[in-house]
Amino acid sequence: MKIPSHLEQAIRQQLEVGKTLNCYIYDTTAMQDKIHHLNQIMPQGVEVFYAMKANPHTAFLAAARSAGARGIEIASLGEAEKAVTAGFQANQLIYTGPGKSPEELLWGVSHGIRTIHIESLTEAHRLQAICAKLNKKQDILLRINADFDIHEAQTTFSGGSKKFGVDEEKLAAILPQILALEHLNFRGLHVYAASGVLNVDDLLKNCQLVFAMAQQIEVDYPATCCDTIDFGGGFGVDYLEEGRDFDPQRYADGLAKLIAQYGFAGRTFFLELGRYLAADSGWFCTEVLDIKDSRGKKQVICAGGINHFRRPAALAINHPMAIVRSDREKLFPAQESVRNQAVYFGGPLCTGADKLANNVMIDAVDVGDIAVFGLAGAYGLTMSNLAFLSHESPEEIVLNEAPE
Ligand SMILES: Cc1ncc(COP(=O)(O)O)c(C=O)c1O
Repeated sequence: MKIPSHLEQAIRQQLEVGKTLNCYIYDTTAMQDKIHHLNQIMPQGVEVFYAMKANPHTAFLAAARSAGARGIEIASLGEAEKAVTAGFQANQLIYTGPGKSPEELLWGVSHGIRTIHIESLTEAHRLQAICAKLNKKQDILLRINADFDIHEAQTTFSGGSKKFGVDEEKLAAILPQILALEHLNFRGLHVYAASGVLNVDDLLKNCQLVFAMAQQIEVDYPATCCDTIDFGGGFGVDYLEEGRDFDPQRYADGLAKLIAQYGFAGRTFFLELGRYLAADSGWFCTEVLDIKDSRGKKQVICAGGINHFRRPAALAINHPMAIVRSDREKLFPAQESVRNQAVYFGGPLCTGADKLANNVMIDAVDVGDIAVFGLAGAYGLTMSNLAFLSHESPEEIVLNEAPE
């Protein structure tokens, strides 16, 4: 991984503070560029939402707003409140996720959020009761657990037995019951296949399946129109640096073809993107506190571990990384260092699961250097075990704040 010069400069400035360095550094320029680009290339009717679960930091919400994201995909009341504080209107929020509490649904309906994505019949009835009490009608999408999965993806959200949505084969039994709930205004479907997908054709296959489902629903229930279709998130990033970047232009072209093929022009299509928008706008930077040789392999111990950057351990992958050298004096002459070796990086926690990276070939590392993990803007701090061992939270430093 190449470290951009302004990032290295920011790290060196932090080193001068003289405190153990352990922080996230964010620069949301890449995220803003991506949103601009998607808005330019996507077919008519496609609306890009930021899935703020990827990174709820205000800098990312500001970047989404300033670059023209249509709104925010939320999955909790906490996210809703952060999005509104960042300047989004309630009607720019779409609400997904299993297990929405009555309080959360009440907030959504009473504030007038755009759509609530129903995950089960129970949730539909719970929402109906809340809407009836408020004497309101709520636009909804129905989330389907399609009988389709993308085996290669990092995480799948449909196919097999899943906690997300209702099984595709139960649609015939469930949809009429939902259509009969007079406070719910059925607008269409939500089918999110998988996260971290690099193969555009896999995601387009998902789009095609949803279109076919929508078309069938309109045949079976002629009074019904799926005028809004949500494909979820899923655009991947190339963590393994294999030159396999997701190609949004190919996706846009493929989607345009499908829209024409199914005669769906004039409808609305949601994309709720997290990882693709946020990943390359953040780096986790942590100081090397110790290096030891353990039975022939170097163990590099950093100030932050899975308490601050859990993703590599959770998904059993190495993120791209690089070392910023600090040229610290050794504490004693025989202090270990690494030269041209494949090593293990871990954090300070008392669990063997506290892994940042393994078998990474490193040219040179000494105690006091900074290990920098890239593509850490998405699912970084937000997905970490922050409370474990009660270490101080890493600072989140923002370079190049997005304009208001
Ligand atoms: C409902 C929903 N939408 C969007 C996303 C964002 O996915 P991604 O980061 O793969 O774009 C997720 C991620 O888990 C999700 O659960």
